Amino acid sequence: MKIFVKKGNLAEAKSQAIILTFFEDQNKLAGDALQIDQKCKGLISQLMKNRDFEAKQSQVSVVYTRDLLPAKRIVLLGLGKSTEADLEKIRGAFAKVMQYLRSMNVKEAAASIDWKMVEETKENIIQAVVEGALLGLYQYNHYKTVGRDDLKEMEQFQIICEGKYFNLIENEIKKTQIITSAVYFARDLVSAPSNEMTPSIMANKAKDIGKRKNVVCQVLDKKRMKELGMNSLLGVASGSNEEPKFIILEYTGGKKSEAPIVLVGKGLTFDSGGISIKPAEKMDEMKTDMSGGAAVMGAIMAASILQLPLNIVGLIPATENMPSGKAYKPGDILKSYSGKTIEVINTDAEGRLILADALSYASKYKPAAIIDVATLTGACIVALGDDVIGMLGTNDQLKSEIKKAAKSTGELVWELPLWDSYSELIKSDIADYKNSGGRAAGTITAAAFLSKFVGDFPWVHLDIAGPAWTAKDRTYIPKGASGVTVRLLVELLRNRVRKPRV
Ligand code: BES
Ligand code: MN
Ligand code: ZN
Repeated sequence: MKIFVKKGNLAEAKSQAIILTFFEDQNKLAGDALQIDQKCKGLISQLMKNRDFEAKQSQVSVVYTRDLLPAKRIVLLGLGKSTEADLEKIRGAFAKVMQYLRSMNVKEAAASIDWKMVEETKENIIQAVVEGALLGLYQYNHYKTVGRDDLKEMEQFQIICEGKYFNLIENEIKKTQIITSAVYFARDLVSAPSNEMTPSIMANKAKDIGKRKNVVCQVLDKKRMKELGMNSLLGVASGSNEEPKFIILEYTGGKKSEAPIVLVGKGLTFDSGGISIKPAEKMDEMKTDMSGGAAVMGAIMAASILQLPLNIVGLIPATENMPSGKAYKPGDILKSYSGKTIEVINTDAEGRLILADALSYASKYKPAAIIDVATLTGACIVALGDDVIGMLGTNDQLKSEIKKAAKSTGELVWELPLWDSYSELIKSDIADYKNSGGRAAGTITAAAFLSKFVGDFPWVHLDIAGPAWTAKDRTYIPKGASGVTVRLLVELLRNRVRKPRV
């Protein structure tokens, strides 16, 4: 859907549907709503008086103007209680109204922005409106061939404003579209089935990003990985007929001398569990086990288009985890890229094995920070539920940056402890570490394992096993791939250059 800004007055807009927002506890009409109500002989006030429309959060009512206005319909959108307003509610409301209009076969809408919707900067308000509208309208129709003509699509959304806000709004729409496109990109990658999102195809997607200004993409093949000794990653890949790829994206928007931020993303294009095979039920969802990698690629794509003055590296170990006569087995010992040895207890604890090599490889950049994103443990869903990102790490400053970014983007992050004592659980009798610490504290022992392969750099791990994929519609995240952490990472990167850090 195209979004653009136009100078003018909403009451005079020629549109299929003009959107007005209201609060539940608002007893008077003001601004555009008042003007439009007067022109329409009290149409809105009547609706509210009769309580057809109560302005509950995301409530939508549509009325025809019957030629009292140039617009065909007035769409009332509820924002709930004014005292509880926040950006997340605005995203949700605009997602809902767009989905509603789309379901009615409306192709085009207009709105003016009520700056009093929430106490936030104008930039943040526009960003929330645009994010809600675009992210809520996402649909993955790639493989639908029957009834394609019935697929519905919103085509355009115009934001009508006073002349003095034109530039601000135009600028903010552009920036937000860069971010939402990156979320779409990540969602598309995750939604794609594993037969069409192999490590090689993922690497090709990264190479496309590598064509952008200040971005270089390098892909290490199996031969090069062998030379480098990435045997932990190669162990996981050994059962698959698909070649593993180690994807490196380097974006240099900052000074040459400046240490980069390294983002590491788990790129397991299909996780069958390997020899420790998973049950059949829901195994199909394991095509999403490259969500972390997709998010890292999306974040670097957005950062490069925004031309952020930072150096950023993306590392994505990409492979399948499959059972076969060549597959690695429980009891095998792998010598990782770092030189440390790992006893494989469970071939389904493969994420930490491929991340181990990538995290050690990150040291080569002497990074200012390392953040890894991975659908790492089912235990994280048990602990925090389907919608929450588990956070563990060694650096409080970096953790608070992540918390702050997540608060702005509405992504839910909760920290789990990473005390030294947890490392006892991943000690091996015959190698340095074992890849599974058993059932207790599964998310934490996985992170403790990762920590052994991170050099002496600020590091935080984000476990997105829950929110990467959603089984039910969630306001502006339609069911399926969420693109989680794309916005979080971009926000964190933008915060680093936006203003002095606190
Ligand atoms: N990719 C899975 C984790 C996962 C599970 C992600 C469900 C999303 C939804 C990971 O590779 C895995 O299999 N982890 C095991 C670890 C165990 C064998 C120590 C798990 O969580 O069961
Ligand atoms: Mn697994
Ligand atoms: Zn996995």
